Amino acid sequence: CGIVGIVGRDAVAGQVIEALRRLEYRGYDSAGIATLEHGRLERRRAEGKLANLQLKLIQAPLAGAIGIGHTRWATHGKPNETNAHPHATDRLAVVHNGIIENFRELKRELQAHGIAFETETDTEVVAQAVSHAMAQGLGPVEAVAATLPKLRGAFALGFLFAGRDDLLIGARHGAPLAIGYGEGETYLGSDALALAPFTDEITYLEEGDWAILTREGAEIRDVAGRPVERPRQKIAAQAYRIDKGNHRHFMAKEIHEQPEVVGRTLAHYVNLAEGRVALPEPLPFSFADLTRISITACGTAYYAGLVAKYWFERIARLPVEIDVASEARYREAPLEAGGLTLVISQSGETADTLASLRYAKGQGQHTLGVVNVPTSTIAREASAVLPTLAGPEIGVASTKAFSCQLTVLLCLALHAGRERGVLTAAEERRLVDALITVPGLMAEAVKQEGEIEGLAREIAKARDVLYLGRGTAYPMALEGALKLKEISYIHAEGYAAGELKHGPIALIDESVPVIVIAPHDAIFEKTVSNMQEVAARGGRIILVGDAKGAAEAGLDTLATLTMPDLDPVVAPIVYAVPIQLIAYHTAVFMGKDVDQPRNLAKSVTVE
Ligand code: G6P
Repeated sequence: CGIVGIVGRDAVAGQVIEALRRLEYRGYDSAGIATLEHGRLERRRAEGKLANLQLKLIQAPLAGAIGIGHTRWATHGKPNETNAHPHATDRLAVVHNGIIENFRELKRELQAHGIAFETETDTEVVAQAVSHAMAQGLGPVEAVAATLPKLRGAFALGFLFAGRDDLLIGARHGAPLAIGYGEGETYLGSDALALAPFTDEITYLEEGDWAILTREGAEIRDVAGRPVERPRQKIAAQAYRIDKGNHRHFMAKEIHEQPEVVGRTLAHYVNLAEGRVALPEPLPFSFADLTRISITACGTAYYAGLVAKYWFERIARLPVEIDVASEARYREAPLEAGGLTLVISQSGETADTLASLRYAKGQGQHTLGVVNVPTSTIAREASAVLPTLAGPEIGVASTKAFSCQLTVLLCLALHAGRERGVLTAAEERRLVDALITVPGLMAEAVKQEGEIEGLAREIAKARDVLYLGRGTAYPMALEGALKLKEISYIHAEGYAAGELKHGPIALIDESVPVIVIAPHDAIFEKTVSNMQEVAARGGRIILVGDAKGAAEAGLDTLATLTMPDLDPVVAPIVYAVPIQLIAYHTAVFMGKDVDQPRNLAKSVTVE
């Protein structure tokens, strides 16, 4: 969920909506706004996308100069209007991101005091608890101070009070919250991106902080209620341009941007003159001292990590253990003190990934974050950060962040190989030379778009799709399947090609397209055998490979997407393009909402 608050000079509803539009990546199940109209709380809320709320505001405008807003990714309670935020009593309205874990317990206590609840949400409990404290005679600030210590979980909150035209309260407890400063206006937002249209001067609240906002600024208190100073930062405004350019969707724009942003990322990690990797900053540890590394991440970032496992093990001879963060955080895996946990995250806010980072820290490990949002919580908490320079990614399905993650991870594997003395300077130069051809090769790969558009019509008819690959093409198969199911809702599965015969082969008939990702590498022949097994059972193969491989395989395929010749080491970065385009065009052809697929959110800040 995303939250915003504005103590403004004029009517703030328009600004609140603008900020919410920039927070929609955090969820779009419902949206809402509350303002003070002549001291009285007024709310407008709507199920579904922000556009529905905008419509309501046209029918019933709000004029208040102070307000809070919310865009929701449902956790407790259905995504309908009743459950939409802000939640309110006659004294206050509240917006909330995260989960209040002990809400049932608190609800029972409040019900025992005769308080009636309107919704199934955990958020209403916060509204009622503060309201109850105020009914006992406490002022708004004291009532919030009395309530916060009772709440368990990871959350951020924003409060607006009836009759208090110059007061907002924000609280951070496990979910990010920033304060922005304007001319006679003060803002609250889940991130700086939301506030970028209004201000470039930001303070990030720290864990347990809460803040009292007025038009003059903000007073910040720590978890014990003591006033504290937190630094103000200037945020580069141009980093926050978000528009679709000439594209129909953000996802299309972001796919097409990849040659540029991968190039930019490479330039940050490679010393061209010397033909070697040069990390932007020295790391606080040496790979020579490590005996293994752990990687954790979620979703697409996890698949980037899975590709990196192959690179680290082969290029740097360094064993890698990798797990999805929701498992890693609770598995209680023994992690060697002084070892390394690598976390990968576009947003830098994914709750499970952050928790696994903290777990590793608790075990005395170094933590290294590969992160796209430089001001994010993971970027701030990791002991070292390697940025991906993809720029803001708006489409919910990750594309350019993924290819930039792969780029950084491959550079890191080369760096590790050199530090461990297993990668010669000549070999490093050869691989760096291969890397710098990648942006150009990606631009080549994009040229298959026309072909892919035609193919998408075929894929759209399928109920199930299989993706196969070996080596680094295996995690790419997993990523391909994930992309397709995320945005087209077609059931898809990725499999290691060699595992086909142990189960998925049972699914194969002429109705199941089998997308085989197979650059011409050392194990290409093995993949050809698997394709033959598919063909022998009437399966329809879509080969994503190069001309040499296609000729060698000599199979009758439904389609062949011809990728440029390349060094197989860099294939995952280039092959990301056709995989993304297949999912994109299939979903567009099916009329799906590719930028905001149902039930998903760009950044999942809850468990
Ligand atoms: C969500 C998004 C995915 C993303 C994953 C991890 O599920 O829909 O596209 O890969 O979160 O997000 P992160 O920001 O940590 O990379």
